[in-house]
Amino acid sequence: MPEIISTPQPAGCPTPVTKGIILAGGAGTRLDPLTRIVCKQLLPVYDKPMIYYPLSVLMLGDIRDILIISTPKDLPDFRNLFDDGSHLGIRIEYAEQDEPRGLAEALIIGEEFLAAESCCLVLGDNLFHGNLDFFRSALRDNKGATIFAKAVRDPERFGVVELDAEGNVLSLEEKPASPRSPYAVPGLYIFDKSAPSRAKMQQPSNRGELEIIDLVNSYLEEGNLEAKPLSRGVAWLDTGTPDSLLEASSYIGTVQKQNAFQVACIEEIAYERGFIDAAALAALAEAHPNREHANYLRSRARD
Ligand code: TTP
Repeated sequence: MPEIISTPQPAGCPTPVTKGIILAGGAGTRLDPLTRIVCKQLLPVYDKPMIYYPLSVLMLGDIRDILIISTPKDLPDFRNLFDDGSHLGIRIEYAEQDEPRGLAEALIIGEEFLAAESCCLVLGDNLFHGNLDFFRSALRDNKGATIFAKAVRDPERFGVVELDAEGNVLSLEEKPASPRSPYAVPGLYIFDKSAPSRAKMQQPSNRGELEIIDLVNSYLEEGNLEAKPLSRGVAWLDTGTPDSLLEASSYIGTVQKQNAFQVACIEEIAYERGFIDAAALAALAEAHPNREHANYLRSRARD
């Protein structure tokens, strides 16, 4: 694969984030019996496995060094799907979470992979669609931790962030009965290099998990947390229930049928971001068993 070279930054600038973790374990109880055999993040969202969507977000942020965390049972399937990522010009490593001990444990499991660098954590069942400039600039500008804020109709289902008029974070609460704001926190986080040691100091919550909200709160307490609102043009979908899974599939199907372009086509993204060249994309098209998809890749390689 092409060597991954990080661009030197002028002194005084935050270093852009180049490492990403996809957390793709969990129990998936709300989707049982779908998840009894196949893990949630490998279930189809329209025409591709769910994990393609968070992977494509990382790739669109020019993150090429990626750790996928999943259960011992499911990790071999992810390996079969992506191998080492070199065909996409990226590097994928794998690590086990043997029990769903919470989202913040990803930073502990990923500590060696991160090697004291900052990172982006994305949940394997979160989908984003739209202009991702907000994400790219957050990866460039992150100092402590960055979360995102999406106004939704049912914030009580999510972590909720309260912002003042200047956009400063006032409070963060997990699934509050009476939300103080309409802003839900999507499963996309940016952390500086201190995240693993912070996660290691956390205590499990009442439900026995290392809560991501506690990790994020540790940055807030120090005044080191930024929350960036997502514009209304950015769609955020999570796919943890039968209804939301169906809605996500319908959404992607509709967008793809109305457009000449696919959503989360990882081969195309690898080419567009310059991770692979046109010849490599054409070779991926030749090897692709799905004729329609192969033709799409060929057309992108010609453009
Ligand atoms: P959740 O949707 O909160 O949990 P879940 O996937 O286990 O589903 P359910 O609540 O129906 O049992 O998890 C959000 C994402 O994080 C999802 O992609 C699974 C992943 N996850 C882990 O990988 N490890 C964990 O310990 C937890 C809690 C979640």
